[in-house]
Amino acid sequence: MRIEKVVFPAAGMGTRFLPATKAQPKEMLPLIDKPIIQYGVEEALKSGIENIIIVTGRGKNAIEDHFDVSFELERFLEEKGKMRELQEIRNISDLVNVAYIRQKEPMGLGHAVLVAKNLVGDEPFAVLLADDIIESKVPCLKQLILTHRKYGCSVIAVERVERKRTRDYGIIDCGKIGDGAYEIKDLVEKPSPSEAPSTLAIIGRYILTPAIFRNLENTALDKRGELQLTNGLRRLLKEERIIALEFEGRRYDAGNKLEYLKATVELALNRKDLAKDFWRYLRSLALRK
Ligand code: G1P
Repeated sequence: MRIEKVVFPAAGMGTRFLPATKAQPKEMLPLIDKPIIQYGVEEALKSGIENIIIVTGRGKNAIEDHFDVSFELERFLEEKGKMRELQEIRNISDLVNVAYIRQKEPMGLGHAVLVAKNLVGDEPFAVLLADDIIESKVPCLKQLILTHRKYGCSVIAVERVERKRTRDYGIIDCGKIGDGAYEIKDLVEKPSPSEAPSTLAIIGRYILTPAIFRNLENTALDKRGELQLTNGLRRLLKEERIIALEFEGRRYDAGNKLEYLKATVELALNRKDLAKDFWRYLRSLALRK
């Protein structure tokens, strides 16, 4: 079955980036010249998904305006003859179909996915966490879709992390089946390094079957009062198999300050229009040391 829809949970408070996120959602912070969320939306488009469901909290307007047509801005750019910029902003509003739904309280990732239930309907769908920016030859979501086609079940992106980092991720227990794919046996949300069943961490890309909704509805809240997607998946695993895919590509975590800085630098070095001058600048910094 084709994957037609992707859910973007975007209702977090963005506390790590305060005060920048006081009046705008963290998904709208720029990485060079594009808001974080646009990288994810472009990955979805390149993976053949045009229907975007954004689960918002505060600051919904900024995200909505961003993916909407801006007549004033388009007219201004046209009058000034700035055709490249015009094309750039048209591309994004032309290509996507965006629906918004509000998560009234920030009650965890599982809850955000559950909020999208009626918009998704009874079909397999994707979830993309915009904080994880992935550069790869084949878009990461597309790699997951191909794996979903092969196995016909839910597929989760995973990446090896240092053991001391397991507390930041959902971690899987699994057996290898080949081609970067693993059969998941269990999943644990943010275990301590000594309790982690492996060092394969869940990264923000999922293809889920609609059975996840019923399982999320029957999953208890965790100690912090949040509904964890990982715990919903753990229930789903009792009914259906779930495959993990060690994707090919480079991931940047735009969700914390240091990684966000690294992402900015590395993405800039990958940009034809900036790389040369930026390299020169970075080298000059190294000389000054
Ligand atoms: C969420 C998930 C976690 C996953 C991570 C990937 O955690 O709960 O399982 O490993 O995303 O980015 P968060 O980063 O929202 O705390």
